[in-house]
Amino acid sequence: MPRAVCCGEGALKKMPEILQAASVKKAAVFTDKGIRSAGLLDPVLEQLQKSQAAFCVLDDLPPEPSYGQVQKLVDACRAEGADMILAVGGGSVMDTAKLAGVLLDGSSTVHDLLEAPGRAKKCCPTLMIPTTAGTGSEATPNAIVAVPEQELKVGIVSDAMIADNVLLDPLMIKNLPRKIAAATGVDALAHAIECYTSNKANPISDTFALEALDMILNNILPACDSADAVSQKSAMQLASFYAGVAITASGTTAVHALSYPLGGKYHIAHGVSNAILLAPVMRFNAPACPERFAAAYDRCVWRKNLRDAGGKNGVYAALAGEDRPASGDTHKPFGIRCACVGSGDTGGGRHAGDTASEQQSAPGDGGRRPRAVPPDPLTSERTEKHE
Ligand SMILES: NC(=O)c1ccc[n+]([C@@H]2O[C@H](COP(=O)([O-])OP(=O)(O)OC[C@H]3O[C@@H](n4cnc5c(N)ncnc54)[C@H](O)[C@@H]3O)[C@@H](O)[C@H]2O)c1
Ligand SMILES: [Zn+2]
Repeated sequence: MPRAVCCGEGALKKMPEILQAASVKKAAVFTDKGIRSAGLLDPVLEQLQKSQAAFCVLDDLPPEPSYGQVQKLVDACRAEGADMILAVGGGSVMDTAKLAGVLLDGSSTVHDLLEAPGRAKKCCPTLMIPTTAGTGSEATPNAIVAVPEQELKVGIVSDAMIADNVLLDPLMIKNLPRKIAAATGVDALAHAIECYTSNKANPISDTFALEALDMILNNILPACDSADAVSQKSAMQLASFYAGVAITASGTTAVHALSYPLGGKYHIAHGVSNAILLAPVMRFNAPACPERFAAAYDRCVWRKNLRDAGGKNGVYAALAGEDRPASGDTHKPFGIRCACVGSGDTGGGRHAGDTASEQQSAPGDGGRRPRAVPPDPLTSERTEKHE
């Protein structure tokens, strides 16, 4: 778990305090060109200037980089003589920055860590500012790199890579393009569901996974749809962080195992490959742990309109133990297939709806504690708009 996490609108303003507390002389800001052109670097640099630390920006990073591309940035960072690492970006940027944080002394390379992750040792403090919601990389000890010669993506895991500081500011995902918001949101959803249904699930991962699942199911659509849905975006940021904590305590399962070769060989974006695989894998797994699916459904699908949408959306239907969505479309986790995968783009047990707890909470969802929810409900009509 990171040492300090600050979330909510304006969280970015904590930066000067964090840098001053760590007596930083020069910060290296890891980012990518997409983040830069989206204007997301400007508010970060503004805060850096207030901290009075010197800084450099390293942005020569493609999405889902290979270990060689990561090594290049680590070497560039060492040449700058930075004593703190900041990541402003999605999982690709944060994973690269985390690796830099344990390789800065030059005693090992990224390739060495692929063979022997135990060689990672903390070289300097790190600060993660996610711009997607998300991978949860800001919470995990993992960094994923592509290994082109094996057409694979491989995870390097070391506690030394856990971030020191995390800032979750919804400003950073305000204008996240819908397609990326949907894909990365389904990645977080997959983390939560896989951790909760894993053989390694335990009380700690269950707590974080269920809370994440609840927040994602009840916020993902407005968070994707509207730049102004600040509280829903904030909920998605926190949920992906929680799902990252759940990964740390438990782990992902078949969706991610099957997804990595799709990324390594066919370069399908991580969130998109998870979106394709999630509902079918859930349906495959449901007979092995029907009580878990039922418990997740009871806990999370608490808005009437989400329950109504259950028959039309792959994930809700799978969570409810239905064989297939009523529409017959198995690749449509949320009715946001167009946003997530694009047309032609590659790139249970018992039905918990019958339970007493759901019946109690049915009228107006009054039986559940309040959540940040959108004013515009998810209706079947809304769902079909995106088919
Ligand atoms: N370390 C972990 O625990 C962990 C967990 C899950 C996934 N991952 C890894 O994370 C990587 C994927 O990360 P990702 O899904 O966050 O995407 P990403 O970091 O690869 O970014 C995808 C694209 O989105 C753009 N982008 C990001 N934020 C933006 C914003 N706010 N506005 C506009 N454009 C923006 C980027 O410029 C980039 O072009 C994969 O390599 C995956 O394997 C790591
Ligand atoms: Zn993932």
